[in-house]
Amino acid sequence: MAKLTDISWSDFEKLSLEEKKPYLSQSDGDGMPYHTLFAQQFDRSILERLCNLANRIRFINKSKEGALYLKSVLAHKRAMLYFSQPSSRTFLSHLAACQILGITTGSVRDAATSSEFKGESHEDSIRTFSSYFDMIIMRSPERGLAEKMSWELSNSSRPIPILNAGSGKDQHPTQALLDVYTLIRSFEEKGGLDGRTVVFCGDLLRGRTVRSLSYLLTNFSNVKQIFVAPKELQVSDDVMQILKEKGVEYEISDNLKEATSVADAVYMTRIQDEWDNAKGESAKIDTSKFKFTGEELSLLKPDGIIMHPLPRRDEISTVCDHDPRAMYWRQMRNGMWIRAALIASTFGLEKSIMNCGY
Ligand code: NCD
Repeated sequence: MAKLTDISWSDFEKLSLEEKKPYLSQSDGDGMPYHTLFAQQFDRSILERLCNLANRIRFINKSKEGALYLKSVLAHKRAMLYFSQPSSRTFLSHLAACQILGITTGSVRDAATSSEFKGESHEDSIRTFSSYFDMIIMRSPERGLAEKMSWELSNSSRPIPILNAGSGKDQHPTQALLDVYTLIRSFEEKGGLDGRTVVFCGDLLRGRTVRSLSYLLTNFSNVKQIFVAPKELQVSDDVMQILKEKGVEYEISDNLKEATSVADAVYMTRIQDEWDNAKGESAKIDTSKFKFTGEELSLLKPDGIIMHPLPRRDEISTVCDHDPRAMYWRQMRNGMWIRAALIASTFGLEKSIMNCGY
């Protein structure tokens, strides 16, 4: 078993994501993540296990007795939500997931209210949190910070798991989990996710949800990916490289109407202008063709779906909101259940919840 205590940070840092993966898994060797840092940790069997567990948890939670059982399973644990970037859904759904499992939570939502503002290092902050909590759920503008902190904690006297709730422009693994869960649920009675076409549209260069989801979709058979964006915001080479290596069919496009007409799912994203190098840089890009309006809706297949990680600006017209194919509201709720499944699995509870009497 590869362990983070057996490797220096400088050696670990140099590994590819595939090589890093075994160091982040649970020690019982069944492949479930211990630290959840990037989408490359999830293969199809783990994804299916998590989706099944999420379904099981949402079923158990329907009765008061079931909900009280779930509230007991991790009542002896505490989680720290450490969010140094804005968040509504990811913060709240992790919080709600913890509440479902009976986990007590603490939070920092603004680095300006923590001692980091006084110059404390991330390492010292994380060590501080680990003194009081049993898990850290963190969002940060810094790529790779969650990885570094996982190594630090695993090499400390209080090793506790880290869950990456968004790292810079790089990864958002739990969003990708909820997106896959939504796709699986949407197509489960219509022949499944294999063989489908997923269209990504918007700021594909800086949107971390697209990077993570694009990877997760490579676990399914013949899922074609179409990337629709202005050329300045097209998906980066490393994403295309992974698709090439995996033999996944993909297309680069600037025509949302054409892509929508062949799509099973259209995944819209907002322009991520918080990453602009110069103020107003994104505003100069013509994004007018990259909006999902009533016209696109009329081109979408009858059982196609519209997704969005949210928050949205104007990239999906509100005329779509009441269409049964608009899946963005359901994505939010699915996020709470799949995060509860992930957290329960992180604490080794998959089997006991799957086999409980409720
Ligand atoms: C996304 C994010 O933070 O990357 N939001 C989310 O977590 N649902 C997408 C975005 O901010 O555009």
